[in-house]
Amino acid sequence: MTITEQEFELDPEIVYLNHAAVAPWPKRTKEAVIQFAEENSHVGAKNYARWQDKERELRKQFKDLLNAASPDDIALVKNTSEALSFVAYGLDWRAGDNVVTSSEEFPSNRIPWESLKAQGVELRQADIDTEDPEQALFQQVDKHTRLITVSSVQYATGRRMHLEKIGAFCRKRNLLFCVDAIQSLGAFQSDVQCWQADFVMADGHKWLLGPEGLGVFYSTPTARDRLSLTQYGWHMVEKAGDYDNPGWEIAASARRFECGSPNMLGIHALGASLSLLLEVGLDAIEARVLDNARYLIDKILAEPMLTLLSPTHPAQRSGIVTFKPTQADSQALFHFLRQQNIICAHRGGGIRFSPHFYTSKEALERALDAVRQFLALN
Ligand SMILES: Cc1ncc(COP(=O)(O)O)c(C=O)c1O
Repeated sequence: MTITEQEFELDPEIVYLNHAAVAPWPKRTKEAVIQFAEENSHVGAKNYARWQDKERELRKQFKDLLNAASPDDIALVKNTSEALSFVAYGLDWRAGDNVVTSSEEFPSNRIPWESLKAQGVELRQADIDTEDPEQALFQQVDKHTRLITVSSVQYATGRRMHLEKIGAFCRKRNLLFCVDAIQSLGAFQSDVQCWQADFVMADGHKWLLGPEGLGVFYSTPTARDRLSLTQYGWHMVEKAGDYDNPGWEIAASARRFECGSPNMLGIHALGASLSLLLEVGLDAIEARVLDNARYLIDKILAEPMLTLLSPTHPAQRSGIVTFKPTQADSQALFHFLRQQNIICAHRGGGIRFSPHFYTSKEALERALDAVRQFLALN
């Protein structure tokens, strides 16, 4: 039995092409949650020290996934939006400052920055639907720019950004660099040091195959020192657990962003999911994700009744492939696909397919067959 056959128990009626939204859990994640529930109901938190080991292990897993310098650079947060808000509300803005981003961002990476308008901060959105999306970002930068924030992969088009190029530009210009990595972490190899990123965040429920409500926030020691904190509590201090001591200081590590009790249930679940990804290897996962995307792109381009909305340039491809019927209504196609048990999303005016590494070509063909059926009827 392959690891894929062992770990994925999807209903055979279903074709699951929605990892860019919320992913199904591997078997080991389900089992970790069941075991944790059993333990809680039988002995409560008797073995809390072991739970803390799991928490430490998860920081180490994220360190490895991101190639961070240290697990101390990893904070466990609620979600991507929370981490983006820590950055947006932690920096010391001056009226007239601006932030540069793209015009294709999910609201999580737009709204926190737009909300700074009251402080006189402008959000500049570059149109990145070009051959050179990074250059389009750079063109928006002027002497008032403090930070570039971008998604590693855009949620609707699936456009993948050249993060190293943006990071190098930011370093040269002394700009902060912030990456919403939710649409690539778990599908693509990541290297925050190579990207020269100051802040990177992602939630666990997409390509990382974990539950909703637990994500990662990476920061370098210098970058996090530039953020004022917006949340305080017992857990974010240097000596968490030294309850009777009235004195405290802010933790030097990224734990400073975790104000109170950790999400232990989520930690057990996400730890199990990440162990699978690390076991398979992100190089192998990335190759299979790209191969599935290539397969879909080739078939869609060969079908005159379909228009591809995702970039075709290999460097800009990701796990997301979005397309629409050239003449028929894409919402109608979306509803048709749901009726056929093809689980996908309607985004950016088209149908978004997001297969993961374990998705078979047979599953992709079943989805494409359903699309062809719809086209024949409409
Ligand atoms: C690019 C991007 N960022 C963020 C999110 C979700 O953010 P959060 O983790 O805050 O729910 C999504 C979800 O679709 C997304 O596509």
